[in-house]
Amino acid sequence: MVRFTTRLAPAAGLVALLSCPTVAQAASSNVVVDGTSFALNGENVSYRFHVDNSTGDLISDHFGGIVTGDIPADIVSSINGWVGEPGRVRREFPDQGRGDFRTPAIRVRQTDGYTVSDLQYQSHTVIQGKPELPGLPATFGTGDDVTTLTVRLYDNYSSVAADLSYSIFSKYDAVVRSVNVTNMGKGNITVEALASMSVDFPFEDLDMITLSGDWAREAHPQRRKVQYGTQGVGSSAGYSSHLHNPFLALVDPATTESSGEAWGFSLVYTGSFSVDVEKGSQGFTRALLGLNPNQLSWSLGPGESLTSPECVSVYSNNGIGGMSRMFHRLYRNHLIKSKFATSDRPPLLNSWEGLSFNYNASTIVDLAQESADLGIKLFVLDDGWFGVKYPRDDDNAGLGDWTPNPAKFPHGLASPVDQITGLQAANTSTDLRFGIWVEPEMVNPNSTLYHEHPDWAMHAGSYPRTLQRNQLVLNVALPEVQDFIIDFMTKLLNSADISYIKWDNNRGIHEMPSPSTDHKYMLGMYRVFDTLTTRFPNVLWEGCGSGGGRFDAGVLQYFPQIWASDDTDAMERITIQLGTSLVYPPSAMGAHLSAVPNQQTGRTLPISFRGHVAMMGGSFGLELDPADMPADDKAALPGLIKLAEKVNPLILKGDLYRLSLPEDSNWPAVLFISENGSQAVLFYFQTAPRINNSIPRVRFQGLDSAAMYKVEGKGVYSGATLMNMGLQFPFDTDVGSIVVFLEKE
Ligand code: DGJ
Repeated sequence: MVRFTTRLAPAAGLVALLSCPTVAQAASSNVVVDGTSFALNGENVSYRFHVDNSTGDLISDHFGGIVTGDIPADIVSSINGWVGEPGRVRREFPDQGRGDFRTPAIRVRQTDGYTVSDLQYQSHTVIQGKPELPGLPATFGTGDDVTTLTVRLYDNYSSVAADLSYSIFSKYDAVVRSVNVTNMGKGNITVEALASMSVDFPFEDLDMITLSGDWAREAHPQRRKVQYGTQGVGSSAGYSSHLHNPFLALVDPATTESSGEAWGFSLVYTGSFSVDVEKGSQGFTRALLGLNPNQLSWSLGPGESLTSPECVSVYSNNGIGGMSRMFHRLYRNHLIKSKFATSDRPPLLNSWEGLSFNYNASTIVDLAQESADLGIKLFVLDDGWFGVKYPRDDDNAGLGDWTPNPAKFPHGLASPVDQITGLQAANTSTDLRFGIWVEPEMVNPNSTLYHEHPDWAMHAGSYPRTLQRNQLVLNVALPEVQDFIIDFMTKLLNSADISYIKWDNNRGIHEMPSPSTDHKYMLGMYRVFDTLTTRFPNVLWEGCGSGGGRFDAGVLQYFPQIWASDDTDAMERITIQLGTSLVYPPSAMGAHLSAVPNQQTGRTLPISFRGHVAMMGGSFGLELDPADMPADDKAALPGLIKLAEKVNPLILKGDLYRLSLPEDSNWPAVLFISENGSQAVLFYFQTAPRINNSIPRVRFQGLDSAAMYKVEGKGVYSGATLMNMGLQFPFDTDVGSIVVFLEKE
C-alpha cells in the first residue's frame, strides 16, 4: 500500500523544500506530497508516484482517472530468471545499467567512461505557477492555472543530479514534464540520451497512435497494437519533420473518438526527436518521448546543465476526441504567446500557387486589387521577391540575399506595399494588410551571402555539402548567424508596412558537424524566434516547413499558425487537417482554397467543397490567381470568404468534435461548438457518389441533451435527438459539402 493523506488546501508560493524523504508536507490540492509519495491532481486525472525507500528509485503508481487516498502498491512478480527487480517495477525515471533491460530515460557517459547511473531521490520543491524553461519554448500559466513539483535525483557515484519538473494544469488534466541534468562533479560528462517524459503503464493491452507521412502527405494517423519489444517513431531530419510528428497517443483497444481512455503526449520541440514505446517482458508498457539520442551527445563540464524540452501529457476518459480537446484548449490558452492566438485572422490571398516566381511590383498591385475586390483582407507575397546579384527567379538562387530584386521592384518594397495597404476590402472600410514570405534559415550557393560566408552553411569538415531544393541550411547554432537573421528581419519589417510574415523552411539538415549541433541549432532558432516575435508583437507570424514539416508545439509558442501542408487538394486536406487536429488546435492551421485541377493531385473538386475544407483552418485563404478562374468559380468567392469569416470565431475558440473520419466513412463530419455552447457549426462532406443507398444520419456530439437547437434549414430539435438520432443531409452531386449552423435556444 502506498500511504497517503487526503487532499489539503492550496498554499501560495514556495511551500516545501524537503531533503528528508520521511517528512510529510503538502503544497496544494493539485500537488499533494505525503512523505515521499507524490500526487498531481487534475479535475479528472491523478498522476501518482513514490520513492522506493530501499533503493531511492522513483516508482510510477498511476496515470489515469482520479484515485484518492492510499493506493495499493504494485505487487512485484517473484524473481525467477534474468530480470531483476528494476526490470519488474514501473519506474518513473529509468536510468541505465542496474538490471532494467528496457530503454532508459537517461544515459550519461561519466568522466570515467561508465554509463551506469544510480539516480536516487534527494529532495523536492513545490511552487504555485511554472518557471520558464531556459532557452526553450514551454507552456505557461499563473499560480491559479498551474502548480509545479520538482524532484531532485542524485547519483552519488558520478555526482550527476537530475531534476524532474512536473507541472499540473488541473483544468486541462495535463501534466507537463521536463528534466534538467547537472554535472556536479569535477570532470566532463556526456549526456547521451534524455527523455523529457517517461512513464510505465500497468500490465494492460494498449494501442498506440502516431501521425506519419511525408511531404504533402502529413499527419496521417497510424493506430496499432503495442507489442512486446520496442516500437516507435522519431525524426533525425534535424526538424520535427513531415515523416513523424512529435506526438503519441496510447489508448485502450476499445477506445473510440468519443469514448474510452486516451493518453496523449506532445513534445514542445522542433528538432530531431524520439518516441519509444516498449512493452517489457513483465507486460508493462513504457512510453518515452524526448531528444533523439542519435543527435544528442551533449557534453557537460563541471557545474553545467542540460534542460530537456518539455512534454505535455493529457489524460481523457472521453475518447480520442476528448484528448484532442484538452490539447487544443491548453495550447490556445497556455502555449501560443501571440496576441493572434484566438482572434483577428483576416482572410488572405497567397501568391504562391497562382503566380509562383513570376511577378513584379505592378502585377502584384493588380492582384492585390483583385483580391480586395473579392473581400480579401490580407495580401501575402510568397517566394520570389528578393535577390540582387542572384535574383530569386526560380528556386536555384537568392536565398540569403534579402534585398528586393531591383528588376521586379525598381523602387523597393515600400512603394508597392503602400499602394496595396491603401486598398480597401470590398464592402468594408478595412484596409488591405500586406504580408511577405521569408526562409531565413537557408542559403543558396548561388547567393552573395554564401560567397561571403561559406562557413555559415551547415557542413561537416570536407564532406560534400549535399543540396536539397538547391539549397543549404545555415548553421543557426552560430551566434553570428542568429544575429544576421535578427538584423535582416528587423530591417525588412521596418522597411515597409508589413503585418504578416510567412516563415518557411524547405529542407532537412544534413552533414551536421557534430550530433549535438541539432539541439544547439534549436536553441539558436528559438532565440531568434523569441527576439523577433517580442520585437514585433503586432505582426501575425505563420510557420511553414514545406507545408507541415515543422507543425509542432515548439513553433506554436511563437507563431500562432502554421501552414498545414503543400497539398491543397481539399479531399486530401480533410485527412491531413483532421490528423493534425489530434493534437494541434484548428486555430493553428493555415488552409487555402486553390485552383483546379489541383497542382498536387490533378483532381477537380467543386469550389464550395474546396472552400468549406479550407475554412476549417484558423487561417483561411485563397491560393490562386482569380484572373485564371472560371467565371462561376470566381463569382462564388465573395460568398465563401464571407462564410469563412462567419465561422472563423468558432474555429479559433471553439471545441472540435470529429464526428466521422475520412478513413472510416464516405461522409466525414466535423462539428465546432462555441466556448459557451450557444452556437455550433457542422461541416459535412460526401467524398464519393453512392448509388441506391439510404441517407446516413449525422449524429452530433458535445451538445446539451436538454437544450433545444435551431438547426439551419432543418428546424428545432433537442440536443438529445441530435446526438442520439441525428439528422440526414442528402447530396445530389457525386462529391459534396455543406456547412450548417446551430443556435441553442
Ligand atoms: C514551400 C511552402 O510550403 C509553399 O507554400 C511555398 O511558400 C514555397 N515553399 C515557396 O518556395
